[in-house]
Amino acid sequence: MSQNSKFDIQVISTLEHFERASLLRNLSFTHGPISGQEMLHHTELFPKDKKMRKLIVQKDGVDFAYLSILEAYWADEADLISWNLSFDPAQITRQEYFALYEICLANSLELGAKKLNHWAESTQVIAVQCLRELGYVEGQKNPCTRLDVEAFDLQKWKDSVQLPAGFYLMTGDEVKEAHPDTWKHMFWRFEMDSLADVPLPSPFIETTFEKFEEEISGPYAHLMHRVFAMDGNKIASGSQIERYAANPSLGHIAISGTMREHRRKGLARILKILSIESAKEAGIKFIYTDNEQSNPLLKVNFELGYEHISDFMNFTKEVI
Ligand SMILES: CC(C)(COP(=O)(O)OP(=O)(O)OC[C@H]1O[C@@H](n2cnc3c(N)ncnc32)[C@H](O)[C@@H]1OP(=O)(O)O)[C@@H](O)C(=O)NCCC(=O)NCCS
Repeated sequence: MSQNSKFDIQVISTLEHFERASLLRNLSFTHGPISGQEMLHHTELFPKDKKMRKLIVQKDGVDFAYLSILEAYWADEADLISWNLSFDPAQITRQEYFALYEICLANSLELGAKKLNHWAESTQVIAVQCLRELGYVEGQKNPCTRLDVEAFDLQKWKDSVQLPAGFYLMTGDEVKEAHPDTWKHMFWRFEMDSLADVPLPSPFIETTFEKFEEEISGPYAHLMHRVFAMDGNKIASGSQIERYAANPSLGHIAISGTMREHRRKGLARILKILSIESAKEAGIKFIYTDNEQSNPLLKVNFELGYEHISDFMNFTKEVI
């Protein structure tokens, strides 16, 4: 920051604010661009009884950073605040990062934070260095990988996509059609039972069915591509890829999971291959994902041709 530069803070409330905030966010997080409208939609889904603050920081009258501060209601830890800071990584200096962090800290404390949680991408070298200097403790590390879908050779895998006896394939749309009264509940249980075993920095808390229903009934739900291995009327395993509305040629793996009683039968690998095929048909050019470094699917992703591009690093700090 130059000697005379000045930061101004605006609280985000209107669509125009969200449009501006999304531009800053997309500079910081290039794997998954979102629009202002989408950002507004996600903000509206945030539980009304939980604490949240979203700010735009301007430098010398120009939008410079977007700061999101959320009560981490999804983690089983009282007074944990999760914050995120977006900016143009090519433009920021150490001094500016520290100044933005002060704004983040002051706002988090105002919201009652006792502990702070933050995910940083390893490519943001200044952020990672500053967080270490600020005394943040490094925890979970998730290698982030990317698949070039056009270069993926399905022929190579065609002999490996036969489901074991007793299972059959269904797409998400087929499940909806076959189970009109229960599909939402089936998708919910699939996601919750899978997420319960995904390594996370804090213990996982289930999303209620009502909340989940609100999410999958929203305007972006059609961007999720689901493929399942069924055991009778039950989902045994599934793989979900979501396209980004702001750039539908990019996607990310929303979740892959196999119910505990059906693990190590090859289901997850088969569904991953089939979901790449369905992503290709939908026009997706790159699929991004990240897995905790000991997650077995990281190795499977490398086998399928995903390349390591960076690491998501979890940082925490007690502030009281
Ligand atoms: C990870 C998970 C999806 C694997 O599902 P699965 O159907 O059992 O996986 P597969 O049988 O297709 O295994 C594919 C390969 O992964 C590896 N693997 C799977 N589970 C493993 C385990 N528990 N330990 C070591 N390697 C394992 C193996 O290399 C395996 O190939 P192999 O059996 O030929 O050796 C399942 O354990 C799960 O649902 N976990 C919780 C959800 C999760 O972590 N999802 C990933 C993040 S989104």
